Amino acid sequence: MCAKLEKQETDKITYEGLLQGNRDWVAATLQEDPAFFDRLSAGQAPPVLWIGCSDSRVPANQITNTMPGDIFVHRNIANVVTHTDMNLLSVLDYSVNVLKVKHIIVCGHYGCGGVNAALGDKQVGLIDNWLRNIKDVIRLHEREMQTIKDPQKRSNRLVELNAIEGAANVMSTSIVQNAWASGQELSVHAWVYSLESGLITDLKVSASGPDDISPVFKMQAHK
Ligand code: CO
Repeated sequence: MCAKLEKQETDKITYEGLLQGNRDWVAATLQEDPAFFDRLSAGQAPPVLWIGCSDSRVPANQITNTMPGDIFVHRNIANVVTHTDMNLLSVLDYSVNVLKVKHIIVCGHYGCGGVNAALGDKQVGLIDNWLRNIKDVIRLHEREMQTIKDPQKRSNRLVELNAIEGAANVMSTSIVQNAWASGQELSVHAWVYSLESGLITDLKVSASGPDDISPVFKMQAHK
């Protein structure tokens, strides 16, 4: 939709331009669908939780051709999933237990600056402590990573492994395991997005029940 609305050029975006852009978007949206805001303001029931990178080039809705209301979103630098991130756990808990999403997707992207920084040894700043989580992914897959010499291929593979480990971390949370134990329909997936082609690849590690995860992380149902 909004085909008639011309997008602002990135190098000309101003603070005022954002507000004007908003008004233009509202006008174009109402022209195409007069009930759009009435419908959306009534509530949300998105079937999908998206955990992705903060990168400005990987917006969940646009790249999946979906609309506001379709995807509940959590984004952080390099789509890291850790069990001590209260922000992520809150999003996960709310989307599984209140919104009852059916799919959780951890989506990485090739050319991820956070992943590339984790591959190097240069100090960037505070963020180094965040990227430490991705160094753990390298350590977990050290043998495979050591066999890949080409820097581009190393980066691409680590992007994939980081998304896979992120999905595995989602699967092993008590939140997801309790949902499965109660018979809730819920699948967890890992994807990777190509900035170059715009295409998404399913990394085929999807899980829809406790039998799909490592026994190490299995928990008995919460009583
Ligand atoms: Co990124």
